[in-house]
Amino acid sequence: MIEVKNIKKSFGDKTILEDISGTLETGKCNLIIGSSGSGKTVFTKCVVGLFKPDKGEISFDGKNMLEMDREERTSLRQQIGMLFQGSALFDSMTVEQNIIFTLDMFSKMGFRDKVRRMNEVLEKVELKGVNKKFPAEISGGMKKRVGIARAIVLNPKYLFCDEPNSGLDPQTSLVIDKLIKNITTEYNITTVVVTHDMNSVMEIGDKILYLYKGKKEWEGNNKDIIHSKNEQLNDFIFASDFLQGAKAIRMLEVEGKIEEGTSVQRAQEIIDNNEELPELKP
Ligand SMILES: Nc1ncnc2c1ncn2[C@@H]1O[C@H](COP(=O)(O)OP(=O)(O)OP(=O)(O)O)[C@@H](O)[C@H]1O
Ligand SMILES: [Mg+2]
Repeated sequence: MIEVKNIKKSFGDKTILEDISGTLETGKCNLIIGSSGSGKTVFTKCVVGLFKPDKGEISFDGKNMLEMDREERTSLRQQIGMLFQGSALFDSMTVEQNIIFTLDMFSKMGFRDKVRRMNEVLEKVELKGVNKKFPAEISGGMKKRVGIARAIVLNPKYLFCDEPNSGLDPQTSLVIDKLIKNITTEYNITTVVVTHDMNSVMEIGDKILYLYKGKKEWEGNNKDIIHSKNEQLNDFIFASDFLQGAKAIRMLEVEGKIEEGTSVQRAQEIIDNNEELPELKP
């Protein structure tokens, strides 16, 4: 588990993160959501140690990273896997070279073990047989998978994914989400996903931190989000009229006030007019 307590980060006299606290849980996909400029990337960079917060605590399984010595920090870094936005693969290296590069840098494995491990992770992300291809020769979704394979090759305890679905179609995004979820539960790791994708929020949002103007405005999961009365969160998640309507229907269904299949228009009417409805028979 990663525990963040009262972190603050400014650049010059501009405060970017203001007193953020929250937990990122083990075995779960923890999503960081919020509109552009709300501080998601700065927050994530603070948590992985790329930025030093001005104040606060960031504990990895009980150990405060900000008080670690150099050696402890290096060892923690090796337990963190990161999928960068845009995958950040080396274009001049093949898929297998991209993955082996990480092992060359951070492990003392022999060559055979490296090859075995590389093939293992490629299989894990369902990418057998693309070893010799260059990044330019594979699709965006495949690149993300290679990025994930590279991020998990050292068996990390913590996995960070920055916008894993950007640039992918909804179906491919779902496949990537399921893969991240599956890796998280199978290896029981703490996964943190920065996302804009509302499908991801609903599919894999075991734990969600919503940032608004540098503050943590809301924390919960994908089930709570439907019932949330937080105005900023609702405007962000249910941005379109269609989704506002879908949320309204779902709430009335959950409250047992309407039958499944009621039209969006009718549900909106009920809410707008604050209509008293009889309880439905069970
Ligand atoms: N290195 C930096 N120096 C100064 N200001 C920065 C730096 N990095 C980020 N900021 C500022 O911090 C604020 C939050 O930026 P951040 O990148 O965290 O937003 P974000 O929520 O990730 O947005 P997006 O969804 O667009 O990626 C922005 O106003 C940005 O200009
Ligand atoms: Mg960002």
